[in-house]
Amino acid sequence: MRLWLVGGCVTFGGFVKAELEDYSLVGAGKARAHDRGLVNAEWFLADVEPARMRELQERTNRRATIDTALWIGLTILAGWWLAATAWSWWSIPAMLCYGALYGGASDSRWHEMGHGTAFRSRRANEIIYHLASFQLFRGPTVWRWSHYRHHTDTIITGRDAEIVFQRPPSVWRTIFAFTHLQQENVLDHRYNTRTVYMNPLFRFLYSNMNYHVEHHMFPSVPYHALPDLHAEVKDQLAPAVPTTAAAYRVIFSTLARQHVDPTYEIELDVPEVESRRRRIDVGESNWVQHANGGIDLAAASSMDVGELRRIDIEDRTFVLGKLGEDEFILCDGLCTHANIHLADGALIDGEIECPKHNGRFDCKTGEPTRRPVTQPVAVYPVTIDGGRVVGHVNRKATS
Ligand code: FES
Repeated sequence: MRLWLVGGCVTFGGFVKAELEDYSLVGAGKARAHDRGLVNAEWFLADVEPARMRELQERTNRRATIDTALWIGLTILAGWWLAATAWSWWSIPAMLCYGALYGGASDSRWHEMGHGTAFRSRRANEIIYHLASFQLFRGPTVWRWSHYRHHTDTIITGRDAEIVFQRPPSVWRTIFAFTHLQQENVLDHRYNTRTVYMNPLFRFLYSNMNYHVEHHMFPSVPYHALPDLHAEVKDQLAPAVPTTAAAYRVIFSTLARQHVDPTYEIELDVPEVESRRRRIDVGESNWVQHANGGIDLAAASSMDVGELRRIDIEDRTFVLGKLGEDEFILCDGLCTHANIHLADGALIDGEIECPKHNGRFDCKTGEPTRRPVTQPVAVYPVTIDGGRVVGHVNRKATS
């Protein structure tokens, strides 16, 4: 059967089947995404106990240092092997190894360092991010912002510049984008992203990005904790694809179907569970005015060090954080980049990290300290009185 594209529609022998999506960021697809309510929208989140999530979000330099040293060392070794075997048959496996390490593995390093989660050290993340960008011929700034958008509007046509499988799809691009050939224009990563079980070698090369549903739901969890995160949430996701080969079988059969019918979508067995977002609405309606003029927010002992708690007072939202045994901070609760609740983020080295794009704010001043955040949040004074945390939400803190 012949397939034609006419005026954005797919036709089978003259019969109009369906309108194709417009993938341009400045075309009709952009307006359509807005009209459908798919822009900057609220996404499904799996449920993870807050204390467990704090453990998973912890940053360390150790693991990324070992992995990075190994990656660079193996790349140099493979390069030496390639040079030493030039023009012999041995140069073929040498070239494959070198290509996998220099090009393939640098993509996942670029990705992890761009999120700023691989190392605890921000400088180390930046150095490796720029190195990997150089290896991949990617402009570090443009791609950083492109990836923020990818996380805001994942596989939303007209919004996401990183949709590799534009329909009708191109088979040769398959190998470069493994994780997202699923459904388009849905607000649930379980439908547009896949998790694939891989052997340890592939997971090393891919920096655990095979746990891609988990990564998209919780970008503040570093790559080395993604297997543990998967164990926490797997019952709330579609079953993971069992092997890399099985994933490619699914991908190629889908591509074949979409060549005939670009509207074809993979069917997924996603369990019906409630999004966690509804469960973090912990605001109370009867806040007690404290004698010192502030508002009684919590018992100091009711929070763990490192915990962030969402506080809703009338129509205002705040985030209360515990930095130390007797040290609390109180800020506006919504990220100034895209109105995401900061209480879902992480407290790291005196900064609040937003859960959506890893932007950061200084806890004491509210000033932005990491892109894509550019505007500060207001910070409010907090006192401890009789073991109670008291917030003064009607006056700004002076740092
Ligand atoms: S919503 Fe983008 S950094 Fe917060």
